[in-house]
Amino acid sequence: MKKIKETIFVCGNCGNEFGKWMGQCSACGEWNTLKEVKSLGKAIGGQTHRSARTSEKLEVKNLSKIEIKSETNTNVFTSNIAEFDRVLGKGVVRGSVVLFAGEPGIGKSTLLTQLVGKVGGLYVAGEESAEQIALRVNRLGLNAERFDVFESNSVEEIEEYLNRVNNLYKIVVVDSIQVIGCESATGGMGSVTQIKESAFRLIQLAKKTGVAMFIVGHVTKDGDIAGPKLLEHMVDTVLYFEGEKNGDLRILRTTKNRFGPTDEVGVFKMEEKGLREIKSDEINLINGNEAKVGSAITLIVEGSRPMCIEIQALVVESFAPMPKRVFAGVDYNRGQLLVAIAQKNLGIPLYKYDVFVSVTGGIRIDDTGVDLAVLAAMWSSYKEKPLLSGAVYVGEVSLLGEVKKVKGWDRRKKEAEVMGRKVVEIKNVRALLH
Ligand code: TYD
Ligand code: MG
Repeated sequence: MKKIKETIFVCGNCGNEFGKWMGQCSACGEWNTLKEVKSLGKAIGGQTHRSARTSEKLEVKNLSKIEIKSETNTNVFTSNIAEFDRVLGKGVVRGSVVLFAGEPGIGKSTLLTQLVGKVGGLYVAGEESAEQIALRVNRLGLNAERFDVFESNSVEEIEEYLNRVNNLYKIVVVDSIQVIGCESATGGMGSVTQIKESAFRLIQLAKKTGVAMFIVGHVTKDGDIAGPKLLEHMVDTVLYFEGEKNGDLRILRTTKNRFGPTDEVGVFKMEEKGLREIKSDEINLINGNEAKVGSAITLIVEGSRPMCIEIQALVVESFAPMPKRVFAGVDYNRGQLLVAIAQKNLGIPLYKYDVFVSVTGGIRIDDTGVDLAVLAAMWSSYKEKPLLSGAVYVGEVSLLGEVKKVKGWDRRKKEAEVMGRKVVEIKNVRALLH
């Protein structure tokens, strides 16, 4: 038989496969993401397992015959890290697969090392040596007794070992999917096909053995080839660990969760001895109560957790032909818009001022409820006058400068009161002038 040599092109962003190269992926619209992958007569990714499956006995089950194990007690266990449990829903679900994504260096390995240290489990170290893990476990003051390390980059090895030890572990961490490969897939380590196939087999393994699997995936800023985006639809839960690298606050968010909510966040602080959980009151304390020039306090509600956050602005005369606009933690386009609103409604001649805005602690905010606080902080910096002490600025600002109440308004008002602060109620940003 003639061997069919096939070259296919795989999009690094969405994972779709094409017969020919294109500059733009016609499935997701991203540019320059198609990479050439060689395949010998065998279609890649999903298809190998499908053909393998047909040889198994086909079985269709009637729902009434399916035994439902009690959801609460037997299938869920605690991670012994309260913030982690809350973000996951009730806790860790047996047999579930969690994609743990974040930029390199943000603290993924640290947090998952702490998880295994607290619960006991297996750490598949693809990137680091067992000694490096041992050093970290020591440094974090964790119990090394229940902590097994497996230096491996091969799905086959992981499968063989987990099948052999049969239910020894509740948790398995695979760090990271980018350095795990399997023989059944084509392409080099870290390629789209390898990542897809390896992840698929790890997911099968988790379902079969009932172990809760945490798969680490590095994301790069530009969502580079073979990023975790590929895997999002395959896993049960997607956790993103994020924060500004030079800040020490870290936020754990879910963007997908088959077993719980997706709006909860967990807050941690990176310290000498690893990641420490942060309670709401502590964040509020971090931000202090005194009013400072260029600072405005706002209140966001993430999931069940209200947080007072400080927005800082620096508005200074510009000597550049194009004044600078730098926003950290606030969306760039939203920031630009707020600068324009400030110029129009607060009368700040921002065309000749540089504007820097940052959210303290390195939290990224998507909530338009912080608009008013950004404007208030800019105003305060420009006027070199502190805002009212104890004031909390919440509200979305329209193009006309109207301040609108946002989702959870009453809740935020109440929370502010509990914290001994008061939400400023104004209808138009021009009221800041008085
Ligand atoms: P790491 O977990 O290795 O990041 P990732 O796995 O996401 O790439 O964390 C790297 C950073 O965390 C590193 O710069 C050092 C810092 N760190 C601490 O500050 N304290 C600690 O106890 C540990 C283990 C790491
Ligand atoms: Mg790491």
